[in-house]
Amino acid sequence: MNRRHFLLSTGAAVGLGAAGLGQRALGQPLRLTIQGARYDLTGNAVTEGMVSLSADAPPPVLRLRQGERFVAEVINTFDDYTTMHWHGMRIPVQMDGVPYLTQVPMGQGDSYVYDFTPPDAGTYWYHPHCNTMAQMALGLTGILIVEEPDDPGFDADIPVNMRDFRLGEDGQFIAFYTPRGAARDGTFGTVHTANWQRDPVEDAPAGGLVRLRLVATDTTRVYRLHLPGAEGRIIAFDGHPLNTPLPWPSAEAPLILGPGQRADIAIRMPATEGTEIAVLNDQPGGLRPVIRLRATGRDLGRDLADLRPLPPNPLPTPDLSDPEVIEFVFGWAPGGPPSNDGYCGSLGYTFWSINRVSWQGDASGAGPLATLERGRTYILRLRNESPNDHPIHLHGMSFLPLASNLRDIPQNWTDTALLLKYETIDVALVADNPGDWAFHCHVIEHQKTGLTGYLRVT
Ligand code: C2O
Ligand code: CU
Ligand code: CU
Repeated sequence: MNRRHFLLSTGAAVGLGAAGLGQRALGQPLRLTIQGARYDLTGNAVTEGMVSLSADAPPPVLRLRQGERFVAEVINTFDDYTTMHWHGMRIPVQMDGVPYLTQVPMGQGDSYVYDFTPPDAGTYWYHPHCNTMAQMALGLTGILIVEEPDDPGFDADIPVNMRDFRLGEDGQFIAFYTPRGAARDGTFGTVHTANWQRDPVEDAPAGGLVRLRLVATDTTRVYRLHLPGAEGRIIAFDGHPLNTPLPWPSAEAPLILGPGQRADIAIRMPATEGTEIAVLNDQPGGLRPVIRLRATGRDLGRDLADLRPLPPNPLPTPDLSDPEVIEFVFGWAPGGPPSNDGYCGSLGYTFWSINRVSWQGDASGAGPLATLERGRTYILRLRNESPNDHPIHLHGMSFLPLASNLRDIPQNWTDTALLLKYETIDVALVADNPGDWAFHCHVIEHQKTGLTGYLRVT
């Protein structure tokens, strides 16, 4: 197995106790070093000027365990300010990695110890939250898995980090964003990858049960996925096991994942060695395979019915008898000064607003958009007044979509609600985690040009 394949295969995940990144003696934190990197993304040129957690490899899959403490010292050797955010994790606010709101950004040579115990199992991810546009575009988006205490019984577990890179013909970066894109659906990448590979093929046991963890870490793209001919079911969405079953995706009704969203799907591999299953994305220009799985070895003869349901995560139940409703309107900016967030970068203009105000930077802004009383149930009315999609993400707490003005929506816990154009979604939430929690669109060009703020839980 060559190094590239080793690093990309699921066995190479960095977990507590696993080697791979830095040396970790017993009882010492995992050391994660944000650093410059180079990598052959296209198959014909090494892309220079990337950012990762090692000099020549994609950000590793971090494997944590539900209810077990995780301690990581994040060291910044990259020549820019940064922080690390753990997307979807319901953890103490000091560990949330939002510049100015929860920590001071790390300059070159600085470090920060992130120390938390994940309450929920499932599929999450990590990315910087300072100079977010540049550092995510340059590569720093990785998958974080929180394993269930009891093995759910799959024969393989395959994380899929789906994202694009904006590269020119020579394989080098071109502008990460454009004013035209930022004011519309965002600026799309030119090279489509999964796990930093173009058209990857992953081996999986024939007739075996595979847990595929699809993670949309792109700054812009909304994925519309289906798996023709595959036998499977969706088992979790945005980290959490389903409350409402989701239909198996098809060409007509694909699985939609906006930036920041995840889905765990269980697949039974074909019994015949060499047979492939493809995850296809319906994107402008046609259907494109995101990843293919190839059946290998003798038929394991497993059955989807062998799988026990995933245990639910310990989420607080909203009390819908007397909720307070708070409305947020996402739309165009009325025009204002360019966003400026201290050391954390500006795109130089604003286009977007929350409640008709353009907010600054990576999240901190001026003051909280709303103050919630700890322990109370709220309905957040998320109103999209624009003809563009917005994946609206809240840090620190999960919420439950209740209803949409446009469609039937499944009531599955999430941290990121994809609002389609002109859509309003009511979501319920128990404000159980004290602190200031970033609340923003996950199309990073929207976030960085006004569509960001925070909620305070006191
Ligand atoms: Cu995935 Cu505020 O972030
Ligand atoms: Cu987040
Ligand atoms: Cu948006």
